[in-house]
Amino acid sequence: MSNTPRLELRNVSRTYRIDEQRIPALDRVSLIAEAGTVTALLGRSGCGKSTLLNLAGAMDFPDSGDVLIDGQSTSGLNERELTKLRRHRIGFVFQSFQLLPTLSALENVELPLLIAGERRSTVIARERLDWVGLGDRGSSMPHQLSGGQMQRVAVARALAQRPEILIADEPTGNLDTASGDQVLELLAKAARDFGATVLLATHSVEAAAIANVRVRMRDGRIEAIEPAYVGAR
Ligand SMILES: Nc1ncnc2c1ncn2[C@@H]1O[C@H](COP(=O)(O)OP(=O)(O)O)[C@@H](O)[C@H]1O
Ligand SMILES: [Mg+2]
Repeated sequence: MSNTPRLELRNVSRTYRIDEQRIPALDRVSLIAEAGTVTALLGRSGCGKSTLLNLAGAMDFPDSGDVLIDGQSTSGLNERELTKLRRHRIGFVFQSFQLLPTLSALENVELPLLIAGERRSTVIARERLDWVGLGDRGSSMPHQLSGGQMQRVAVARALAQRPEILIADEPTGNLDTASGDQVLELLAKAARDFGATVLLATHSVEAAAIANVRVRMRDGRIEAIEPAYVGAR
């Protein structure tokens, strides 16, 4: 009866083991994120935000519970399927931008398209740079760009393949308020224009403000979800 959500975490736990130590980073977390929405994860350092994002991006897997993308559990995919999922359906933006320093802005955006064998890679990369307002900076090298511009290039790159899920881990953490706000506006626009499911970890009040859904985390658990919805389906 109900539609399958784009992304669902169902009773997910993840414990890191270092030698004899066990660190319960996520403890029975359930969350739903729909297409075309921005969900912000809030909470102090160490509460499990990055762990949750890595699970949602199929870069890591739960010890128990399920991460479902369009109803398919990431734990049930083989290596080939995982590579395809990560390359085509998930985009990542990091606090530290992670641009390749020896490639131009345009080449950074084009690279994932080339790897995916996209014939129209240059055209699409130009479209994305235009979309983030940097159409005139394609030939600039990363070191010639401001932090805010680098992060906008990183957003363009993350959206190269029109991913269903866009994951941003503290994307404004290294930016001043004005450039941070521009990046946040782009993330909100990514949800609108591309129908992406945007998952954002943040400390910033401004970032929380652009989100459709705010998830308050503490010690590996979800404390509150605003606006509240009725539990996992
Ligand atoms: N790769 C790892 N190995 C061991 N412990 C980790 C690892 N990643 C995170 N942790 C621990 O898991 C908990 C949650 O961390 P994290 O998800 O990075 O939180 P946040 O992103 O909210 O700061 C913390 O106690 C952290 O120290
Ligand atoms: Mg983190």
